[in-house]
Amino acid sequence: MHKLAQLDHAHVWHPFTQMRDWLRREPIVIVGGQGAVLRDVKGREFFDANSSIWTNLHGHRHPKINAAIARQLKKIAHSSALGFANEPASLLAERLVAVANCQLPIANLTKASRRQPNWKLQIGNCKLNKVFFSDDGSTALEVALNLAYEFSRRTRGNKLPPKFLSLGGAYHGDTIGAVSLGHVDLFHKAYGGMLFKTDQVMSPFCYRCPFNRAKPERADAREYRKCDWECVGLVEKKFSAQKKKGNPFAAFVFEPLMQGAAGMIPQPSGWLRQVTDIAREHGALLIADEVMTGFGRTGAAKAESGKRKVETLFASHHEKVQPDFLCVAKGLTGGYLPMAATLTTQKVFDAFLGEYAEFKTFFHGHSFTGNQLGAAAALASLDILRTEKSARQRAQLQKYLHDELQALWPLPNIGDVRQVGLVAGVELVKNWRTRKPFALAERAGIRVCEAMARRGVLTRPVGNVIVLMPPYCTTPAQLRKMVSALREAVAETFPANAHG
Ligand SMILES: Cc1ncc(COP(=O)(O)O)c(C=O)c1O
Repeated sequence: MHKLAQLDHAHVWHPFTQMRDWLRREPIVIVGGQGAVLRDVKGREFFDANSSIWTNLHGHRHPKINAAIARQLKKIAHSSALGFANEPASLLAERLVAVANCQLPIANLTKASRRQPNWKLQIGNCKLNKVFFSDDGSTALEVALNLAYEFSRRTRGNKLPPKFLSLGGAYHGDTIGAVSLGHVDLFHKAYGGMLFKTDQVMSPFCYRCPFNRAKPERADAREYRKCDWECVGLVEKKFSAQKKKGNPFAAFVFEPLMQGAAGMIPQPSGWLRQVTDIAREHGALLIADEVMTGFGRTGAAKAESGKRKVETLFASHHEKVQPDFLCVAKGLTGGYLPMAATLTTQKVFDAFLGEYAEFKTFFHGHSFTGNQLGAAAALASLDILRTEKSARQRAQLQKYLHDELQALWPLPNIGDVRQVGLVAGVELVKNWRTRKPFALAERAGIRVCEAMARRGVLTRPVGNVIVLMPPYCTTPAQLRKMVSALREAVAETFPANAHG
């Protein structure tokens, strides 16, 4: 075993990992990367098929991000946001506000819009104006949660504690507030005693929806579903029931377009718009968790006004939803450095203003809040995203991904292939006709990912769902290899059914 692997085995405790399994085999020790490729200590190369757990946007060692970090290093790496402002964080906050309100056209898609760089996307009255920096997705959600809680307490006549509604199976992070907001059974069993109660409503999972009367087909279940939008009806019911209790939900928390760690669950077109309209009618704040979906991951959102189109970077905007809180992390720095942000409105901000002795201050923050290196990387990443080249690259990759994924349908152990933009989830089942799932203990997803790794493709499953989320720089040939490794790995893992 390589010396570094030995050291890892001796001392490193890995996240979300059964360490007994980990210690049974020699780990892949990554020492380098270039574009969509990772290189290990033995000189082997692997495709980074999940963008290093959904973080990397433009590929590894991107010259522009490298240069931005190097430039910043020549000035300073970090100074505290407690008591001081800094250059890149100020610039980044301004840029994030512009992007989040679609005031900054991202790679204009038509000649008309190119002539009108100041054209503004009409996304409602909810202007995101303030940025609270933090370090990871979980804390971005904690910040939104704490702000929404305190804002509601201060601005509603109601003395009852503010209540939150989120989606079944939701994962919003692993800190206590974020776990409480989420509905992952494993966590609630483990930490139940420490959590506070939030409510949940069925997520619109067409493939496994009890209201979908359509038989399984070899196509995305959203396309052939037969239902009467019962999932939207359930949201309405939840809001009405809570209102009757005299304490309407303070906030509705959601991942727009696709729930990630819940199992790559895509929402049928129109769901987000309908349920957020309901939430608004009931006076709830909207908290959009765009930790996974942000920065172009869910594809080109073309906001239209007449003939003009502008691309936006956020999934919520695909359905013209502008939240009160926008939580971003993972891809914010292009996947380079740990940095997150929670954007919110002037109205929320104002509720925390007061005389010092009133103690209306938002008591929250971390040592590395507004880190200068992270902010410099994020500015460079946003610069890249704004180029026409990047927009074109992403649109093409989305199409290639769609085309390549079609080759998976003939496999009987693949029940569903779902894609939203540049994210794909491939659900393994015992038999596609029955949709019967593998028990988690069978480790179906893990075994398929191990077989993919043997073929030089690295990703990590969410239960029985294999995730493909390539960096935006992935070439068609690289993408083809990722998908064929997945196809071969499924056939190898379930040989009896490989041709059945
Ligand atoms: C939607 C979503 N929210 C929050 C988080 C938590 O982010 P982090 O792991 O950076 O704390 C994740 C992580 O996967 C996520 O996918």
